[in-house]
Amino acid sequence: MSAMGANAPGAGSVPEPARPAITIRGVTKTFEAKDLGTVVALDGIDLDVAKGEFVCLLGPSGCGKSTLLNAVAGFSLPTSGSVKTDGVEVTAPGPDRAMVFQEYALFPWMTVFANVAFGLEIKGVRRGEIKETVDALLATLHLTEFRERFPKDLSGGMRQRVAIARVLALDSPVLLMDEPFGALDALTRRNLQDELLRIWSEWKKTILFVTHGIEESIYLADRIVVMTYRPGRVKKIVEVGMPRLRDVSSPEFNKLKRELTEMVMEEQRRHAEAEARLATAD
Ligand SMILES: Nc1ncnc2c1ncn2[C@@H]1O[C@H](COP(=O)(O)OP(=O)(O)O)[C@@H](O)[C@H]1O
Ligand SMILES: [Mg+2]
Repeated sequence: MSAMGANAPGAGSVPEPARPAITIRGVTKTFEAKDLGTVVALDGIDLDVAKGEFVCLLGPSGCGKSTLLNAVAGFSLPTSGSVKTDGVEVTAPGPDRAMVFQEYALFPWMTVFANVAFGLEIKGVRRGEIKETVDALLATLHLTEFRERFPKDLSGGMRQRVAIARVLALDSPVLLMDEPFGALDALTRRNLQDELLRIWSEWKKTILFVTHGIEESIYLADRIVVMTYRPGRVKKIVEVGMPRLRDVSSPEFNKLKRELTEMVMEEQRRHAEAEARLATAD
């Protein structure tokens, strides 16, 4: 279909390369901050995420992970460069991309069922169909017995399950997740990581997942994009390549963990130095 160059062989003989789910080209984002002047949050980011791929953005606080995710979500557009999802320029939020935040973005006045059903109601889906979809999702995320509860009566892990169910109800092919398990205790986090991996592989989602957790990124990702601290750039892209579910105590896992820790610590130090400079400038 698309032009493959003058020397392309006849149609059908060579499969066309699949279009990436997300294409990020030369993305730069600057902010005008009162005390800092111009902050270059992102500087010339290039990244492709393949359909069905699980990619983690890893780096210490302040390296632009959320800024990049927000650019893909369409919440805050780049100063220059472009983001495309499935080949289409991102200019605003869209139903093909769903975001899960660290803070459980649930409606406190709605039950679990109503929270998950909300997006489908907005879309005008028939009541019977909503019930069927939501019941299935609640079962998938082990929430069935909590369906009539309100968010305040749930644990953090349960609330995050509801947030994931709510996003899955919309059936977006791309999930954007910004430190979604950051506020959970270690056991609950592992539990939800396993749940997410299961959903990702069963539902064939594309996931771009932000974390500052090194172990989390190795446990989850096909590829890890390590970012630098201000300006946010791609420092290194690491292919994980271990079969899942990954053994966090294996030598291979720990070797990668040491390498990544070194890279992230280097950026962490740059962050600390920048803060120290700022403090002495006062
Ligand atoms: N709305 C904003 N106004 C000013 N500066 C911002 C804004 N959003 C982010 N920044 C700055 O951009 C940099 C990257 O921020 P962010 O993307 O939140 O990093 P991360 O998610 O990796 O912690 C930080 O230095 C932050 O202070
Ligand atoms: Mg962030």
